[in-house]
Amino acid sequence: MRITIIGGGYVGLVSGACLAAYGAHITLVEKDPERLKRLEIGELPIYEPGLEALFSEQKAQKRLSFCATIEEGLRGSKAAFIAVGTPARRGSGHADLSFVYDVAKDIALTAQNDLVVVTKSTVPIGTGREVSSILRTLRPELRFSVASNPEFLREGQAIADFMNPDRVIIGLDRNSPDKGLHAQKLLTTLYHPLTHPQNKLVFMGLESAELTKYAANAFLAMKVTFANEIADICEATGADSEEVRYGMGLDPRISPDFLMAGPGFGGSCFPKDTQALAVTARKVGTPSQLVETIIAANDARKRRLAERVLTLLGDHITQKTVAILGLTFKANTDDMRQAPALTLLPYLNEAGVTLRVYDPQGMTQARPLLPKGIYFAHNALDAAKNSDLLVILTEWEEFSHISFEELQKAMKGRKILDYRGLWKDQNVSDYGFTYHRIGKRD
Ligand code: UGA
Repeated sequence: MRITIIGGGYVGLVSGACLAAYGAHITLVEKDPERLKRLEIGELPIYEPGLEALFSEQKAQKRLSFCATIEEGLRGSKAAFIAVGTPARRGSGHADLSFVYDVAKDIALTAQNDLVVVTKSTVPIGTGREVSSILRTLRPELRFSVASNPEFLREGQAIADFMNPDRVIIGLDRNSPDKGLHAQKLLTTLYHPLTHPQNKLVFMGLESAELTKYAANAFLAMKVTFANEIADICEATGADSEEVRYGMGLDPRISPDFLMAGPGFGGSCFPKDTQALAVTARKVGTPSQLVETIIAANDARKRRLAERVLTLLGDHITQKTVAILGLTFKANTDDMRQAPALTLLPYLNEAGVTLRVYDPQGMTQARPLLPKGIYFAHNALDAAKNSDLLVILTEWEEFSHISFEELQKAMKGRKILDYRGLWKDQNVSDYGFTYHRIGKRD
């Protein structure tokens, strides 16, 4: 089956490579000439474990090709997946849908009868219907279907998430002449290898599918925020957040997933999607106090982290050096979007603290986003050199293997603030360090 994916971003690249691996012929439309050139020579604009290998394999098998225009991409195609960005509009929190609607207009210009137009980007409720209306207005004679197929993959585990989904949600337009039947059949065939033999395909209305995506992300963001607040209570009372998490998580209604306390959630999804859901809820007259609180609590958490670091440094801040391990919003990605580091580092820099930072993948992305004068180290030990305090901000696996003897030699001071609980099972204090762990009283 020939499929067009429009947008060579995270979702487009992963979906394209994975669907190709299951036998579909994918044409990926990327309008940015620089990005397109890089894709054609097999250079990916993102770091995602396993993606580069899968990509070159599928290219070699000729199941993955690229082009610059929707017109070319749609030739012979049965379905067009819209996977362009929907960034939050500055100030308002509204998702910016201009890219999605521009693509819909371009599709309308050249689409053939029976094309299924699928929104894969995270889009607010009503977008699928608007896409349909654009197509109908521009091409009244065209026979087409729209569907919503939100993506639930996590950065860092995107391929596994795509290949082995918990569920594939498909929203259908039940008001269309065929009640969405053509789209249902086509998408059932496309997803068959991923969803068989278990029945993982879930069909619902367009609006339900669109809201499912926001509701799922907001719920997970709520879990993380809850875990962070419980961790604060643990630190204040002598309870241990890891023990509490374990105890809570044994209840299958709760589950231990997404209950790891941390510096506050970041990334391109939770912050943007909670904002967009809050805006939608207000717009339709049912404001969500809960979602609004999640957003505020998470922002405040990132700021409090900076204050905590300053408190740990004590007096003579301007003579102190802090080593930061991890800059990206989580491990196994080079993504810096909404990373806690972007709040913490400017704050410390402003206060006059000397900063030495290291991240296994995020240095290139981080550099232009951070204040000048920060030292970007060659490795974790280099970052630790002469530091008074070391902060673990991202849970990169390689930080678990640092030698504490080496760390002792490298650091000037003996304070560690572990915001991911990465060294919770190690005898850090045997090496003379004062170990401050998230969710546990010092
Ligand atoms: C998230 C969702 O998990 C995916 O299902 C969804 O498809 C994706 O957004 C999206 O909408 O595209 P992602 O942004 O890659 O995926 O990151 P997560 O692994 O969900 O982590 C989000 C944030 O929560 C990170 O800052 C992470 O450090 C934090 N987190 C997560 C915690 O602090 N504790 C946890 O226990 C889990």
